[in-house]
Amino acid sequence: MTTHVSPAWLPDAALAPLGAGTVLLLAPGLDDDPVLDTVVAEVELAASHHGGRSLRAHDPSAPASVVLTTPAGLTDLAGADGAPRAVRVAAERAPELSAEGFHLVRTAGTTVVVARTGAGLLYGLHALLRVGSAPSGEGTLDEVHEPVQPIRMLDHWDNLLPHPVMGQVERGYSGGSLFWSAGRLREDLTRVEGYARLLASTGINRIAVNNVNVHEAEARLLTDGLDDLARLAQVFRRHAIRTHLSVSFAAPMTVGGLSTADPLDAHVQRWWAEAAARVWARIPDFGGFVVKADSEGQPGPFAYGRDHADGANLLARAVAPHGGTVFWRAFVYDHRQDWRDRSTDRARAAHDHFAPLDGRFDDAVVLQVKHGPMDFQVREPVSPVIAALPGTRLAVELQVTQEYTGQQKHVCYLGPLWSQVLRFPLWGEGGATVADVVAGRGPGARPGGVVAVSNAGDDEFWTGHPLAQANLYALGRLAWAPELDPLAVLDEWIRLTFGPDGALAGLLHRVMDGSWRTYEDYTAPLGVGFMVRPGHHYGPDVDGYEYTPWGTYHFADRDGIGVDRTRATGTGYTGQYPAPWRDVYESLETCPDELLLFFHHVPYGHVLSDGTTVVQHVYDTHFRGARAAGELVELWEGARGRVEERTWARVRELLEEQARSAREWRDQLNTYFLRHSGIPDAHGRTIF
Ligand code: GCU
Repeated sequence: MTTHVSPAWLPDAALAPLGAGTVLLLAPGLDDDPVLDTVVAEVELAASHHGGRSLRAHDPSAPASVVLTTPAGLTDLAGADGAPRAVRVAAERAPELSAEGFHLVRTAGTTVVVARTGAGLLYGLHALLRVGSAPSGEGTLDEVHEPVQPIRMLDHWDNLLPHPVMGQVERGYSGGSLFWSAGRLREDLTRVEGYARLLASTGINRIAVNNVNVHEAEARLLTDGLDDLARLAQVFRRHAIRTHLSVSFAAPMTVGGLSTADPLDAHVQRWWAEAAARVWARIPDFGGFVVKADSEGQPGPFAYGRDHADGANLLARAVAPHGGTVFWRAFVYDHRQDWRDRSTDRARAAHDHFAPLDGRFDDAVVLQVKHGPMDFQVREPVSPVIAALPGTRLAVELQVTQEYTGQQKHVCYLGPLWSQVLRFPLWGEGGATVADVVAGRGPGARPGGVVAVSNAGDDEFWTGHPLAQANLYALGRLAWAPELDPLAVLDEWIRLTFGPDGALAGLLHRVMDGSWRTYEDYTAPLGVGFMVRPGHHYGPDVDGYEYTPWGTYHFADRDGIGVDRTRATGTGYTGQYPAPWRDVYESLETCPDELLLFFHHVPYGHVLSDGTTVVQHVYDTHFRGARAAGELVELWEGARGRVEERTWARVRELLEEQARSAREWRDQLNTYFLRHSGIPDAHGRTIF
């Protein structure tokens, strides 16, 4: 039986700009580059579907519509008889290129991609698919593309065995793991190959293949799973993606039989050095390790009275000789907090733990910081940690899997959220952004990158909700180029996936462009966060987390709501930001409305900048959001017959669930606020 692999945004039709004409691939010197075969395969696939030809040598009698080449190939070609004009233009310009960059030139009906490596050619080939065919005889392009982020990584929270509570993929909403089944690597990696292809087309270049919560079976991958990892790495390598493993800090004990995992113990250090040496002996281009330590019950250096620099450097010294990287997560907080204790603030935790350690992390450590101080809520401020460690390599962690944003049952296009995070000016307008910091821009700075939790699984559409593919696509594109307009990225995805049907494209755009804000409208208001049902995190439960140890409270009473995180009267969290944000957030006058309840406890009658009160805002947004969600069902009728029936039906079914869930959110939230405040809706709508 052949495995069905959905082409997602790379259906055969999307390959037309490559496959309709004659493609000349001239890549001297790249014969040993493992990605070159992938480039060849893409060209041949495209040609086979669109009637084109693929050439490996210049033939003056067969003018190429597309030329894929290296700088050396370009020099040869430019001197040859009958070389297309675009080749000469590219050769004249000959920009400096990094190993991943490419030069895209189009003139007089020929498109030329120049790159130094197979990866660069592959990225250029996909750029060509995005820009489309050359209009005959006209249209010019002359673009140098370089990734802003050298590290563009996806983390999979996949377990080898289904976890009794979390299932096989922790916070996964797309079926089982693409890699693991019944405790081992799948025999058939056809889907992994298809996945790698999709990821590479967006520019992803690193992947971690198991959950950050490392259970017993996964802990053994480090020692007993090298054959499996090598097979995965072989697939990903062909798509210019390096493979990584999440490891347990306690592995020297649980796997190695030592009596301690103390980072300062010489036996422990040797154990890690030897474990790493075995991994790289097997997989020379292995990427490195991901570590969740002293976080939500995972073991870490605190047990030995050591800090996170001691812990991270232990692993860094093991991987550095092999060119590896340790992605050390900053998601460290007290998950056994006493809800009665108003002095502890979970939002402060990462900064409190890590800012004092700046300068102590080895070069091979990347500190991986969630984009907000809490946990991927629909609205959070940007984490102050990203501004606080100038001497440390930092990565920002985003979440493609929609744990708190509708779990791939709701349409929620997250491009605009990520774009806002990546472009956030940490020291005020005009200054360095999150994207700049994690890209390592600036004197002496070193890159950490963009890392995100994947939303893909063995579901036939990859992502459960077919439209959630757009998030996977956008993540890679925005990591490569954070300055892109996320709505333009959405349109790219729509065009590639669904083809040239303009009416359909318009409809899809309407369904998706404002979907993040719609989701916010009918869920937790004004940045307050965590009103979800504990455990699975789907659906409303306003007080669900209020008296739990998780540190996620809204403090609603009859008079008001919100968390006072000011320096003046609250937890002092605002003081973790540099100017101007420490003052912008501190003051009720300047704090942005959408983050009001994150930073301040206010009475229900507090007036927002648009003149409505907090409680009326809750009513208005919840009625509006639930209505918008309901309208999507009708809107989708217009797509019937224009998209594949299976896709249409899956989306339809999920839109109904979204509409139902949004009504539930609306009614629970509105009722909660009416009962607590006693303030009626100004418009007299039904609240229970
Ligand atoms: C969230 C999520 C967990 C996950 C954790 C993490 O808290 O609910 O399932 O393990 O994030 O990022 O480590």
